[in-house]
Amino acid sequence: MARVLWLTMLAAAAWGAPGYVGSAACASCHSEISTRQAASHHAAALRPMAATNWPERFADTDLRERSGIVYRYARVPEGLRVTITQGTRTLTALLEWAFGSGAQAMTPVARLQGSYYEHRISFYRATDHPGRTIGHSGAPAQDPLAALGMKQDPSTIGRCFGCHATNVGPGLDIRALEAGVRCERCHGPGQAHLAQPVSKNIRRTTSIELCAECHRQQEGTGPAPEAKDPASIRFQPVGLKQSRCFTASGVMTCVTCHDPHENARRDPGHYQAVCTGCHQSPPRTGAACGRGRGENCLGCHMRAASPLPNLRFTDHRIRVY
Ligand code: HEC
Ligand code: HEC
Ligand code: HEC
Ligand code: HEC
Ligand code: HEC
Ligand code: HEC
Ligand code: HEC
Repeated sequence: MARVLWLTMLAAAAWGAPGYVGSAACASCHSEISTRQAASHHAAALRPMAATNWPERFADTDLRERSGIVYRYARVPEGLRVTITQGTRTLTALLEWAFGSGAQAMTPVARLQGSYYEHRISFYRATDHPGRTIGHSGAPAQDPLAALGMKQDPSTIGRCFGCHATNVGPGLDIRALEAGVRCERCHGPGQAHLAQPVSKNIRRTTSIELCAECHRQQEGTGPAPEAKDPASIRFQPVGLKQSRCFTASGVMTCVTCHDPHENARRDPGHYQAVCTGCHQSPPRTGAACGRGRGENCLGCHMRAASPLPNLRFTDHRIRVY
């Protein structure tokens, strides 16, 4: 009994603990993967605000809300300073972190008197414009603090960092953080592998559970989760796990279609080749589709939709609509 407890504690202590070497240490031997991964949206899922183009784009521009609140941004070495004015009241805070690569959206996170605030203003690629952060009230902000954004308790903001960064400790321990989803977030701490670079010294898994740590899943969603909640298509594992392709093949994972070191491919031909790898004529696993010969399978079996304003996702419950 005591021994089991001890092992559990060791495993928990591994996050944010020694053993992490940082992705730069992997590049000397795995240079090709490292170059591709560093250019991916995973790697940019979190950045210091100063490393984004926000300071240039918004420095000295006033953003006005109908409520009369004015946001003014200015570049400072630590990030982007926002000054929020409402009549005679004013508040200044530092926007420190940018969550989201900007491929779809980017949300700044501010720190004020030791607390983290999710900024009320985000940047959206779809409009190429700033707009209200999803989940924030559309009612006019009561005061400059409310206009700054939503205060996040330490465990919530700790979870944000945990999904957008590497080597985040339990709670809100970001002392050793490496920004972005990098090598050791998926492969585990690399120190032992560096000392002796053999396969058994590093984690490698193709399991959906790895991707679902962040892309999320839910049990008990039923066979058509998107019918109950259209926004659930944001969580690709939820739909994929209800697909016949997944349940009947027994071998489908996220890496069947996605290279984990790259962005999603945008050319339908890439996916079509994967589909026809299983669906051929004569059938190997599953019948071929008479309608879709040589056509783009995705428009009929895996559609994109926009269940949340400005964001676009692909329905991963592969099916006949
Ligand atoms: C000194 C060179 C070297 C460095 C540095 C290095 N690796 Fe490796 N890595 C190797 C070699 C060699 C193999 C193949 C081992 C084998 O086939 O037995 C390997 C294999 C792997 C594998 C595949 C394991 C498998 O089961 O197939 C992964 C994943 C991996 N490395 C990740 C990393 C990560 C992450 C880092 C940085 C933390 C890293 N490597 C740093 C040399 C290195
Ligand atoms: C540590 C959390 C985490 C894990 C684990 C993770 N992802 Fe992600 N993934 C993210 C975040 C955050 C984004 C959004 C990046 C951005 O801001 O654009 C993302 C984006 C993506 C994208 C879209 C990239 C694009 O813009 O084209 C794909 C595809 C993807 N992930 C696949 C995977 C796969 C496959 C796995 C498992 C092998 C995986 N992810 C594991 C957090 C994670
Ligand atoms: C369970 C893991 C997880 C947590 C916790 C999490 N994110 Fe994400 N985040 C993701 C993944 C995965 C994506 C990419 C796909 C998506 O949009 O769901 C993402 C995408 C984003 C994006 C880009 C917009 C988009 O939808 O692609 C922003 C901005 C963002 N997250 C901010 C935050 C902030 C701020 C918090 C904390 C309040 C947070 N995230 C908490 C996993 C997470
Ligand atoms: C989002 C999770 C994720 C991240 C981040 C990630 N990997 Fe991987 N990596 C995987 C998965 C999953 C596989 C297994 C792919 C497969 O077998 O198809 C893999 C496979 C590998 C392999 C074996 C590849 C081969 O062809 O034998 C190496 C080496 C590797 N990764 C190194 C790295 C390095 C170095 C980084 C950082 C620059 C990195 N990975 C970042 C998920 C990730
Ligand atoms: C790993 C193999 C595999 C891959 C890859 C695959 N499928 Fe399937 N798919 C299956 C199997 C197995 C079934 C179940 C066939 C049966 O029930 O006879 C299936 C079923 C289907 C069905 C019928 C679904 C239903 O609910 O009746 C459609 C449509 C489909 N696949 C389309 C696709 C498309 C489009 C792609 C590519 C985006 C794809 N599949 C990729 C194995 C796969
Ligand atoms: C049968 C192929 C297939 C499988 C398996 C698959 N995807 Fe996708 N995925 C796609 C396609 C197609 C797109 C849309 C590409 C585009 O935009 O052109 C996509 C896009 C994405 C995106 C970008 C946001 C979106 O929804 O459009 C993310 C993130 C993602 N997939 C994650 C995952 C994860 C996590 C898994 C495993 C649970 C997974 N995918 C399994 C085909 C697949
Ligand atoms: C123009 C729309 C369209 C395109 C494109 C299309 N399909 Fe279909 N597919 C359908 C419809 C509709 C069905 C339902 C059965 C029917 O009426 O033929 C179907 C059925 C299927 C089935 C189930 C067959 C069965 O008998 O259970 C599979 C598997 C499938 N399609 C795979 C694919 C693949 C792989 C591609 C791309 C090469 C593709 N489809 C392209 C419309 C399409």
